[in-house]
Amino acid sequence: MLSEKMTEALNEQINKEMYSAYLYLDMSANCTHEGLDGFANWFMVQYQEEMSHAMKIYDYINDQGGKVVLDAIEKPPGTFGTPLEMFEATLKHEQFVTKSIHELVDLANEEKDYATQIFLQWFVTEQIEEEANDNEMIAKLKLVGNDGNGLFMIDKELAARAFTEPAEE
Ligand code: FEO
Repeated sequence: MLSEKMTEALNEQINKEMYSAYLYLDMSANCTHEGLDGFANWFMVQYQEEMSHAMKIYDYINDQGGKVVLDAIEKPPGTFGTPLEMFEATLKHEQFVTKSIHELVDLANEEKDYATQIFLQWFVTEQIEEEANDNEMIAKLKLVGNDGNGLFMIDKELAARAFTEPAEE
């Protein structure tokens, strides 16, 4: 059984996850337009991951007898600059999401909502991985700088990323 406050906060998180999906879909479109097909693939997989995060919360609210309430999804920026700038923006966004997840954990603790505390652990762990991936990409992109060959190699590497449905805990 979810409190009204917890349900509202989880619904807001669905919106943040869906915005994340929309943001990465926008980045993917930009990469495709620039001919960076590997980067486009990476962000498309990221889009799929974010949708699965949103749906995980959606299912949880339903399972707990709460009401899912969907809100408008904000418009993404549309332009993002270089691949490095794109990943820097991605990291910044993920740090915002991490903070939001931690606030949800705080609320679940305040409310002594043990089920939601356990449910959110998956997201706490996932955020560590998300930020680590972005930091790794930023380091690689800084290393290659303006070297076209280096960028080409990274693009090739990112083409191999595939979406896998997150395992149930
Ligand atoms: Fe669902 Fe990238 O946080």
